[in-house]
Amino acid sequence: MAESAIEITDLRKSFDDGKTFVLKGVDLTIPKGKLTVIIGYSGTGKSVLLKHILGLLHPTSGSLKVLGKELWDMKESELMEMRKRLGVLFQYAALFDDMTALENVCFPLREHRRQWDPDKIIDVATKKLESSGLGSEHFHKLPSELSGGMRKRVGLARALALDPEIILYDEPTTGLDPVLTEMVDDLIQSTHKRIPGSTSIIVTHDLFAAFRIGEHMVMLDKGKVLLSGTPEDFRNSDLELVQKFIAKGFKKE
Ligand SMILES: Nc1ncnc2c1ncn2[C@@H]1O[C@H](COP(=O)(O)OP(=O)(O)O)[C@@H](O)[C@H]1O
Ligand SMILES: [Mg+2]
Repeated sequence: MAESAIEITDLRKSFDDGKTFVLKGVDLTIPKGKLTVIIGYSGTGKSVLLKHILGLLHPTSGSLKVLGKELWDMKESELMEMRKRLGVLFQYAALFDDMTALENVCFPLREHRRQWDPDKIIDVATKKLESSGLGSEHFHKLPSELSGGMRKRVGLARALALDPEIILYDEPTTGLDPVLTEMVDDLIQSTHKRIPGSTSIIVTHDLFAAFRIGEHMVMLDKGKVLLSGTPEDFRNSDLELVQKFIAKGFKKE
């Protein structure tokens, strides 16, 4: 069997002491080295699931293994180390407004590569921006001086700063126009291919992107996994909700 990046068993999450559950027993394996797309209706628990993988939310019960290690068996220091192996890009790139593009990418390096001299930090940050496709004329601009697409590139460069093994994207193209959406999808795909062995996980409602770039697909519904499989499995699924979601997604475009 293929190696897995993430193994989730019967994961449950309640924010109100067990009165209601947002995650209602998620069982899921995310393969290592692949680009996995997570789809599902709004409010179904996709972001909450992602935050569990990132170790930002504590599960109410269940097991969550990231890169072979049970996340909540770890000491705080181990959890910090694990978080460095994960890179994340949220919908709004969440850049520091008062830092230039380059400084934004230097930030995690200054924080976590303290033994590096300043030149090396700038050198690595520059390379990350270059491979994310930001022109060098923009390196010293503030986020407010950059276009939406450029900000995404900076956000991606920053997410990749520490060479993460798993890269997570939460709705990276929500709110973007079609041209920019395609650019960001292509960027995600080319980034995935450029970093050997990397695992990419993208939450999206963009079905076109899901089928175009997804190698593995997961559909979440009401806090549970409805289907996990190849894009082919999804096309061939006779689950009504899967077909409804796919049809709706394609009609919208
Ligand atoms: N920190 C929180 N406290 C309480 N409820 C939350 C919290 N985060 C998310 N939720 C609830 O969990 C449900 C799933 O949210 P979310 O994972 O963001 O959905 P989506 O699939 O759209 O990403 C929503 O009903 C949301 O209101
Ligand atoms: Mg969400």
